[in-house]
Amino acid sequence: MDEKDILILAIESSCDETAAAVVKNGREVLSNVISSQIELHKLYGGVVPEIASRKHIEKINQVIEEALAAAGTGLDDLDAVAVTYGPGLVGALLVGVAEAKAISYAKKLPLVGVHHIEGHISANYIENKDLEPPFICLVVSGGHTHLVRVKDYGEYEILGRTRDDAAGEAFDKVARAIGLGYPGGPKIDRLAREGNPDAIAFPRAKLEDSPYDFSFSGLKSAVLNYLNGCRMKNEPVVEADVAASFQKAVTEVLVGHAMLAVKESGMNKLAIAGGVASNGALRQAMETACMENGIRFYRPSPIFCTDNAAMIGAAAYYEFRRGVRHGLDLNAVPNLKLGER
Ligand code: KG4
Ligand code: ZN
Repeated sequence: MDEKDILILAIESSCDETAAAVVKNGREVLSNVISSQIELHKLYGGVVPEIASRKHIEKINQVIEEALAAAGTGLDDLDAVAVTYGPGLVGALLVGVAEAKAISYAKKLPLVGVHHIEGHISANYIENKDLEPPFICLVVSGGHTHLVRVKDYGEYEILGRTRDDAAGEAFDKVARAIGLGYPGGPKIDRLAREGNPDAIAFPRAKLEDSPYDFSFSGLKSAVLNYLNGCRMKNEPVVEADVAASFQKAVTEVLVGHAMLAVKESGMNKLAIAGGVASNGALRQAMETACMENGIRFYRPSPIFCTDNAAMIGAAAYYEFRRGVRHGLDLNAVPNLKLGER
């Protein structure tokens, strides 16, 4: 690179992870510190927004200090400070935004606000140095299920989205019904390995008018009905079979939609992103489908799939290079749309 290196401190606090990272030139992660609140929220079976905000306040300074120390960087070495400003829990987002603004003001550093989903997509740039737009990205997280055409850095077209539950939400709700606790995704992933994915025929929703949209509420209800039916008939529930069959139903729909989008767009590159992208069965099924169809498949390591700040630093670098700067009036936007600024 001829130009000067760009060093960005990135902050992420949109949900239940307090995270900070130092990223060089968008793709080199110098540090990636994540303080998870999962153990705390487990007690309540899900994320409690008020508790999340308070915990972010307690942790954020320490997490940033650790990220700077691990990167061997001081605030004076930075070129910009980046932060997730939406979508997410408003109180949680505000902690990161206020912190980033304070650093930006104190150190006279440019401030770059980042869309959380743009961060998830950009996680793919970290380990795939050759990946450049255009490509198709399937974003599957706890709050979002989007099929996105990445036209260029920072330019997105949403081809399809969920009409009801997000994929991760479906994992979490089904896990709760089986009695696995929160967060459900990783627990179903693990339990499903011991089960038969063809044991129970759960439905795969198809929306006639939009081949790229998703719906998972019917599948979730089918699992709940199945469990209730077993209980009423006093039949034993083989939990691993329920987990495996549910996971296969979700995976088939995600793979089918993604393949269709790649083929119809005339592209040959597919990436996946978001917490659910760390699911073993999904990664395997997507890889197989891509191989069969001559499509190049990209996926971040699991640590960059679930919420982290390195992905925010990667996204921020390209926004920074496009000239995006936010003022000290930057606010948290809980329902921020992808591509909005
Ligand atoms: O991206 P993420 O960390 O946060 C949001 O932006 O929502 O995603 C969290 C979601 C949760 O619903 C969690 O259950 C799910 O990702 N998840 C998984 C796995 N790991 C996390 N779902 C399926 N399999 C996994 N291994
Ligand atoms: Zn996320």
